[in-house]
Amino acid sequence: MGVVGAGIWGSMHVKAYAQHPSADLTAVCDADENRARETARQFGIPRCYSRVEDMLEEKLDGISVATPDHCHAEIACMAAARGIHLLVEKPLATTIADCERMIAAAKTNGVFLMVDWHNRWNPPFYKAWQSIRGGEIGEILYVYYRLSDTIYVPTKMLPWAGQSSVMHFLGSHSLDTACWLMGAVPVRVMCLRKEGLLTKMGIPTADMCITIVDFDNGATAVVENSWVLPQCSPSLIDHKCEITGTRGQISLDLTHHRAFAKHTPETGGGYPDDSYADMFITPEIHGLQRGFAVESINHFVECVRDAKRPIATGEDGLLNARLILAAEESARAGRAVEV
Ligand SMILES: NC(=O)c1ccc[n+]([C@@H]2O[C@H](COP(=O)([O-])OP(=O)(O)OC[C@H]3O[C@@H](n4cnc5c(N)ncnc54)[C@H](O)[C@@H]3O)[C@@H](O)[C@H]2O)c1
Repeated sequence: MGVVGAGIWGSMHVKAYAQHPSADLTAVCDADENRARETARQFGIPRCYSRVEDMLEEKLDGISVATPDHCHAEIACMAAARGIHLLVEKPLATTIADCERMIAAAKTNGVFLMVDWHNRWNPPFYKAWQSIRGGEIGEILYVYYRLSDTIYVPTKMLPWAGQSSVMHFLGSHSLDTACWLMGAVPVRVMCLRKEGLLTKMGIPTADMCITIVDFDNGATAVVENSWVLPQCSPSLIDHKCEITGTRGQISLDLTHHRAFAKHTPETGGGYPDDSYADMFITPEIHGLQRGFAVESINHFVECVRDAKRPIATGEDGLLNARLILAAEESARAGRAVEV
């Protein structure tokens, strides 16, 4: 296996491959040569590169593409052309054309194209999905979904936030999870987009979006994605979901665990000293990287090893991009947009 992009999330892929019994992590690539070299040294990866073209000269079975949101397509297509299976970070790409050429490249070259939507491995979501499929809550009427970050993410964590958006970065997870839970086809999108805080700080992107999606089963999802939660928020991520059906309801509070809590700059500084530690996404347990973020990567290894079709596909990525771009069009035009 190889990893392209050894930043915050690429390092999760590096750790997952490094500890997977079926994987042999032989190469890492990052445009930042020092980062590539340091990652290789830290994880005992035999070879490191600063140019993808050079890394792809190696005989690799699969790679992860964990570069910034707008830099997935070129790398994925080059790798597909060399017969390398692909695990691409979400969002698959930020344009429909890029999604389509990645899917075509994977098809033409007979390689898997998986999108890393790890919520499908997130235990509470998986349990909700099972309950829905088992008919426990009846027909779904409504999904409420919130996935937001504190302002730390676009201002301090991602140097490329202005070239992406809260919709591509967080909306992609939310919309994919909502579609997956719903098991229906989205037909109409309406989105309200707010901007101001980030643009004033020189980051040309929206602060938040509220997106309403209508599905062909008559159900509706309301999705909230903000990139400007206050820095003092007790968790870097605010992740909640409520699924209402005709005979039951499921509520998921994935990041907070208390009935009442007050958080101001006086009570704590927020991430990285936040009071709700990450229990599920990337916990390290007895020296190994665990968490559902690793499960999706393990799944990709198993797909490559056992020639299994990945659970989250390029086609899912294309639908997701269509929804995001329809939401952006809706926000601009101030009306609903057919998908
Ligand atoms: N699944 C998740 O929950 C999750 C969480 C965070 C980020 N992500 C996704 O992972 C991707 C990476 O995000 P990140 O937070 O790690 O960003 P990051 O900025 O920390 O890392 C990106 C790395 O890619 C490198 N890079 C950029 N262009 C490159 C190129 N052409 N070739 C090789 N290296 C290149 C950069 O030098 C940097 O080290 C994004 O698509 C993001 O949306 C997913």
